This record gives sequence, structure tokens and C-alpha cells, in this order.
Amino acid sequence: MRSQAEVNVQVNWQAICLPASMRLEIPREFERIGAIQIHGLQKVYELDGGLGVHERSSVIECIPQEALHAQMKQMAIVVPVKEERLKLIEGVLVGIPASCEVIVVSNSSRGPLDRFQLEASSIENYAKFAGKQVTIVHQKDPGLARAFAEAGYDAILDDNGLIRSGKAEGMILGTLLARWLGKQTVGFVDSDNYFPGAVHEYVSEYAAGFAMNSTRSSMVRISWHSKPKISENSLFFAKWGRSSVHSNKMLNRLLTHFSGFETEIIKTGNAGEHAISLDLALKLEYAAGYAVETHHFINLLETYGGLSENRFPEEMRERVSISQIESRNPHLHESKGDEHVEDMIDASLSVIYHSPLCPNELKCEIMDNLRQRYGEKCPDEIAPVRIYPSLSLLNLDAFLEHCDCAVMGPDETTFRFGLEPTRISAG
Ligand code: GDD
Ligand code: MG
Repeated sequence: MRSQAEVNVQVNWQAICLPASMRLEIPREFERIGAIQIHGLQKVYELDGGLGVHERSSVIECIPQEALHAQMKQMAIVVPVKEERLKLIEGVLVGIPASCEVIVVSNSSRGPLDRFQLEASSIENYAKFAGKQVTIVHQKDPGLARAFAEAGYDAILDDNGLIRSGKAEGMILGTLLARWLGKQTVGFVDSDNYFPGAVHEYVSEYAAGFAMNSTRSSMVRISWHSKPKISENSLFFAKWGRSSVHSNKMLNRLLTHFSGFETEIIKTGNAGEHAISLDLALKLEYAAGYAVETHHFINLLETYGGLSENRFPEEMRERVSISQIESRNPHLHESKGDEHVEDMIDASLSVIYHSPLCPNELKCEIMDNLRQRYGEKCPDEIAPVRIYPSLSLLNLDAFLEHCDCAVMGPDETTFRFGLEPTRISAG
């Protein structure tokens, strides 16, 4: 029989081993539209809530690190890259927890300076030190383009038979590679983020969001708490991104139109940082370029909202959950100019305007928004954005088979880097 002292030692040891948890607010409100449940914004109360077990009170859920890491083990983080500074890309990789698979999808130039080659060797070096497996592919890899062609998904190919440029196009490729690597969820993190700590927080929140919603079809979207800017020689922490104010307002107007009750539930219309269960990601349509995040909301409403004819009637029985989590770290990324932001607003409003769900009053409101921003140069109608068909129409088996050939193939545009950590023996 063990003495009481031995039992105490064992109990204390277990307490020490219990990893730290994340403490988040349980959403105060939600909107239900058909099979979709959109949760109100959730605050994070502790990034590290101390040692403990999974607990849920009426207002707070505390998710232990082991539950977060169990989620991360199922998750691939896709990092889209286009001509970003190597130091920023490395910082982003540093912030991604070790349990996640990392997939870098680059569309950087191959000449005259081969930026992709520079990225690949810098990532190879990083992977060596971190003992981490990192996959990097170039968006213009001919083998991966062939995989799309063989899978009957030509819409994503350009006139040269290569994958089109754009962040969304990189996300589609990343999503399918996540599936190829056998993952169950995929998260996206931009490669131009200055704070590795913010990246770490986003990924932890993806894991927390999935842990709080066990449905097969779920999405977690991040709303940053603040975005630092210099204004009149001092720091100013803006609450809302310049494009999301517009898309949030119009998406909420659309919900209001269908429910008859005014709502402001949507806070993440343009959430570049978001994660999706692969079951859901492989059913969604993707809008080209920067319209992708707003279109995901629209496509969810079109498909699961019960507002029009449904392509997936059997799915209406399952809940599709959308969590919106407010991160605590400031979001600081590269500034890419005013024109870029205006294009992003137009692309987001375009997918709302051109949706068969958009009522005439909302179309008028969207055109008023354009007139206010463009004055006399305002077009008669907002230009449509290219929409890629639902990934359910892609022959997944054919894609995955050709993916094997592409990644092992002769094109020097896909690499898997990483070393098993070597144990250093004492003495
Ligand atoms: N693979 C790939 N292919 N990546 C790309 C491409 C491309 O053609 N174009 C841009 N990227 C990468 C960039 O290198 C960056 O890491 C990320 O995609 C986002 O692009 P940015 O140009 O930095 O976008 P942003 O910062 O203006 O907008 C971000 O936030 C918005 C919300 O405010 C994006 O995440 C948007 O999608 C989001 O709506
Ligand atoms: Mg950016």
C-alpha cells in the first residue's frame, strides 16, 4: 500500500503536468438562419488561463492546452505569400504552434530574381532549426495545375493552363493540400504579419473555436481587437479595418432583410484570418482574390440558409456553426495602399450585390456606397467578381492522386522540409 505522502506527490505531479488553458466568453447571442448558427463576438479573457481541466460555466469556457493541441494536430495552417519580406514570413512560421501542419502557398516571382527560391531556402533553414515539417508550393506549379485539370476543375486555370493568381486561388490550393495531408481543419494566416505572438493567438483561437463547436461543419473567424496606426505623431488603435466596416454593414442588412429584425451580429465580413472544417471547406464556393471571405458568408446563406433552393438538402439537418472570436494582440501588417483597400471593398460588396439573395433595396444601398466613394467616376453597376464553383464539383480522388505525382515530380516548385528533432545525449 502507498503512503499518503506518495499519493500527495503523485497528485501534485499530475497537477504540474496539466497544461495551461485558454479562457473565452461563451457567445452572448446568436442568429439562426436555416441550418446556420452565427455566434456573436466572443472575447478572450485569458490567453493562458492557468492549469486546469475543460470547464464550462454559464458565461465562460476554459479549454485546456491538451484539447487545443488535439485540435491543432488535425489542423493545417495555410500561409499565402506574394512578395513578402523573408523576415515577416519567418516570424509568421515562428508563431504557428508545433502541433499544426504548415503549408506555404507562394505566388512570388520566379525572375529576374527568383524570390520563390529565396523563400524556399529560408524556410528550409527555419525548418531545420525548428525541427518542423513545412510544405511550400508555388502557385504556378505545372504539376498542381495538371491535378486541377485532371479533377475537372478547369475554372481555376488561366490561359497558360496554370493556376490563376490571387489570394483565394492560393487558399483553394492550400485547402486541397490540407486534405491531401489528411487534415480535418484548415486555417489561414497572412504572411505579412509583424507579430508572431498575434499569429500564435489566432491559431489558438481557431483551435478553441473548434473545441467549443463539435459540429462537422464549422468556421472560426477572427475579429482583431485593434489595428495600430500612426496618427498625428502618436499611436492610434483603430477598432475596425477599413474594408470590414462596409462588408459587415451590408451583410447585416441582408440578414435583417430576411429575419425582419435589425441585427449587427456579423463583425467579420472580411476576416482574412479564419479557419474552416474541411468537410465544409470542400463544399463551399470561393470568390476570386480578396472577395473570398465575404463570399463565404454569402455562399453559406445561399446553401444552408434555407432562403432559396438547396444543393445539399441532406445538410440542412446539420448545424453549420460560425464562431467570431475577438483577438487581443494588435494586428499589424504591411500597408499596401489606399487603392488596394478600395479594390477590396468593391470586391466584397460585389459578391453581396450579385448574389441571387440580394434584394433591390440593398442593391441600391450598395450603389449609394459606391457613389459616396467614387463621386462622378462611379460605374453604373458594380463589376462582378469571378466565382469558382463549389469544391464538391472537383473530383477529389483524381486531384489527390495527381497531387502525389506533383509533389514527388520533377518541377522544382514543391518542397517538404523538416527534420525530426535529434536528441542530444547528455555526457
Ligand atoms: N498565394 C498567394 N497568391 N498569396 C497571395 C496572393 C496570391 O496571388 N496575393 C496576396 N497574397 C498573400 C499576401 O502575401 C498576404 O500574405 C496575404 O495574401 C494577404 O494579402 P494582403 O495584400 O496583405 O491583403 P490585406 O492585408 O490588404 O488584406 C487582408 O486582410 C483583409 C481584411 O482586412 C487579407 O487577408 C484579406 O483577404 C482580408 O479581407
Ligand atoms: Mg496584409
